[in-house]
Amino acid sequence: MLAGKRVTLIIGGGIAAYKCLDLIRRLRRAGAKVTPVLTRGGAEFVTPLSVAALAGTQVYQNLFDLKDEAEMGHIQLSRLSDLVVVAPATADLMAKMAGGHSNDLATTLLLATDKPVMIAPAMNVRMWEHPATRRNLAQLRADGIAVIGPESGDMACGEFGPGRMAEPEAIFDAIVARLRAGPLAGKRVLVTSGPTHEPIDPVRYIANRSSGAQGTAIARALRDLGAEVVFVTGPATVPPPDGVVLRPVQTAREMLAAVEAALPVDAAVLAAAVADWRVENAFAQKMKKTAQGTPEIKFRENPDILATLARHPARPGLLIGFAAETENVIAHAQAKLARKGCDWIVANDVSDGSGIMGGAENAVHLITADSVEDWPRLPKDDVARRLAARIAEALA
Ligand code: CTP
Repeated sequence: MLAGKRVTLIIGGGIAAYKCLDLIRRLRRAGAKVTPVLTRGGAEFVTPLSVAALAGTQVYQNLFDLKDEAEMGHIQLSRLSDLVVVAPATADLMAKMAGGHSNDLATTLLLATDKPVMIAPAMNVRMWEHPATRRNLAQLRADGIAVIGPESGDMACGEFGPGRMAEPEAIFDAIVARLRAGPLAGKRVLVTSGPTHEPIDPVRYIANRSSGAQGTAIARALRDLGAEVVFVTGPATVPPPDGVVLRPVQTAREMLAAVEAALPVDAAVLAAAVADWRVENAFAQKMKKTAQGTPEIKFRENPDILATLARHPARPGLLIGFAAETENVIAHAQAKLARKGCDWIVANDVSDGSGIMGGAENAVHLITADSVEDWPRLPKDDVARRLAARIAEALA
């Protein structure tokens, strides 16, 4: 299942470190080569000897161990694998990763790697819920790090709640899912999703009914096919997927800046429901009711992100837009494709009663310059998987 795959496993200092022995066994049984790195804390919980025996290879422990450096530099070590897994990821390791520290072999390797990273946090429930850990977790997610667990349950410290490391089987499954050589391996794809919020004043804004469900499902499906996904999302109601590079934004202009910063990409799917207008005379302070009556809101057109990308010097090779229409869906979508200069349009009917915006299903038409395909009404996840498969075919 994992033949030829290489996993660097960083074992942090927590009681859950013992579970890594089982994880190593599972990985090797599936054909993976495991390069173990033991932190100083990790070595308090499992011995280098037991790790080496199960991994069938040397255990790396010290940045300044000349023997290790002579055989393999830490930069080389950080690049040698297909995936870097940190288990258990302690609160301290997460903080160091979020802050970009590199004061031992594990953290240096994590900073130097160009490979995907997955962490399995494990710590006391209070530490897990501490605002500092929350901040670090958000940062790590934004950096594209996949997070497995933790689970809830009785903990070694006698408390109960979230913080227990995911079981080796669950970590193994996540590793297999990540390493399965997908058709989009090596491709970088941008996805925009969700609504944008355009402020009227510091407490009020203009928004729309987009939940972000379809764009989120597309990002997940592309990730599952092995793509590196940059996910630029407005304030959606569904949570973002793991294992994508997360770029949260509020306004259309912020979304455009995040999109341009993500270039170059092989393909882009612009599923966001971008507000067409922003409030030109947005107030710096909360607007108050006054004797002068109701305030006048002046609108100004937002930049068109899709059209801007279509004309961009670093235009993605495959540029896909969405068209949310309430009437003449196909004709309007075809006109939009031509007007905005994209390659495909995924058109859907969002009229009242279609139940699509904010719903679980979608009925779309895939429109290209010379064809129209009518897809059946499907769960949004299935629409996403179908679209991701088409993107993989087009980029092959
Ligand atoms: N889009 C964009 N930037 C905008 C508006 C829309 O990138 N400022 C993108 C959307 O992400 C989507 C496509 O353009 O991929 C079409 O969005 P839609 O709202 O259907 O089209 P509009 O541009 O609003 O056109 P119209 O007002 O004619 O419906």
